[in-house]
Amino acid sequence: MKLVRILRKATECRKSASISPTRLFSSRQIHSLPPESASFGIAFDIDGVILRGNIPIGGSSRALKRLYDDSGNLRIPYVFLTNGGGVPESKRAAELTKLLGVNILASQVIQGHSPFKQLVQRFENELIIAVGKGEPATVMSEYGFKNVLSVDEYASYFENIDPLAQYKNWTKQLTGNRNSSSREMDTIDDPCSQRVKAVFIVSDSVDWSRDIQVLCDILSTGGLPGREIASQPPLYLANDDLSYQGLFPTERLGMGAFRIALESIFNRIHPNVLKYTSYGKPNPTAFRNAENVLMQVVPSHSSHPENRGQHTFKTLYMIGDNPSVDINGARQAGLHWFSILTRTGVFKGEKNHANHPADLVVDNVEQAVAYILRKEGISS
Ligand code: G3P
Ligand code: MG
Repeated sequence: MKLVRILRKATECRKSASISPTRLFSSRQIHSLPPESASFGIAFDIDGVILRGNIPIGGSSRALKRLYDDSGNLRIPYVFLTNGGGVPESKRAAELTKLLGVNILASQVIQGHSPFKQLVQRFENELIIAVGKGEPATVMSEYGFKNVLSVDEYASYFENIDPLAQYKNWTKQLTGNRNSSSREMDTIDDPCSQRVKAVFIVSDSVDWSRDIQVLCDILSTGGLPGREIASQPPLYLANDDLSYQGLFPTERLGMGAFRIALESIFNRIHPNVLKYTSYGKPNPTAFRNAENVLMQVVPSHSSHPENRGQHTFKTLYMIGDNPSVDINGARQAGLHWFSILTRTGVFKGEKNHANHPADLVVDNVEQAVAYILRKEGISS
């Protein structure tokens, strides 16, 4: 096994606490266990670590099974921290459960777009547009946004908005299905005359040419395509990944690449440069949120005065494949984060990454979990 251990300044602060098997917990027992049982937690990246496309990789299924007891109860707190998405967390959890053979809860799945729910109050009843593969508008509806259209649906209301539509067979399918949408999109009053108040890039754009055209129309006219130039409505992106590892041997262009294309064009057609906010890793807030979610997986310590204001976990492990996203993010998130880089995705190097060195480099996620359990004194 190739292990490259990089000693960082505060390594000595990271001495792990041993957990005896008697302190292991299940999701049912979780609220009766002592706080010491939650001394560490794990955040797993998905693409390039757990899966490539829809195929489990790197012994991911075996690795996750080690986090459960013989009865299938969770014994180690963990979450998925992915920049991917496009479906509601509940659906993603069900898909992962089926693919990996362990019982994964929706609350354990943090996707790039999960933080969008914090914006519900601001845009709850405003017309917003959701872009991306999968079910972007359903994702936003489930978060509580009441007046949301996918860019597919929105574009279909504007005749000739995409001059290339006649060459795209899937747009013809959409036109045929439009009135049968389960989200009752036709209850939204004529979207052409309503101002779009915000655009959310939920997941990877399926049709860059159409989406860049329609987004430029929305963003350059203050949310009223076909009208005069006006100030830009807010634009939010679930992540800013330049690339990610799918099934193809080399990396694929991600949402960050789409953002660069959109931005370059927008900045040529509008007097002001494109303003946007991107969420997801490597933002430290994504890691803080993962820590909060992990705290909900184990009992809260807030009732113990001596623990108030302190970290619940002595160590949080981030297992990722992308140095500039997963490792860079974990390193910025604080010294209690310990980063593990796998060779199953974006990173394919022999040694460590030069600019964003991880605390540990391993071949795959199975080796990463074996290392963590050994370090934490957990026998399987
Ligand atoms: O589109 C997904 C990709 O940008 C990254 O996914 O799981 O590697 O964070 P993940
Ligand atoms: Mg990844």
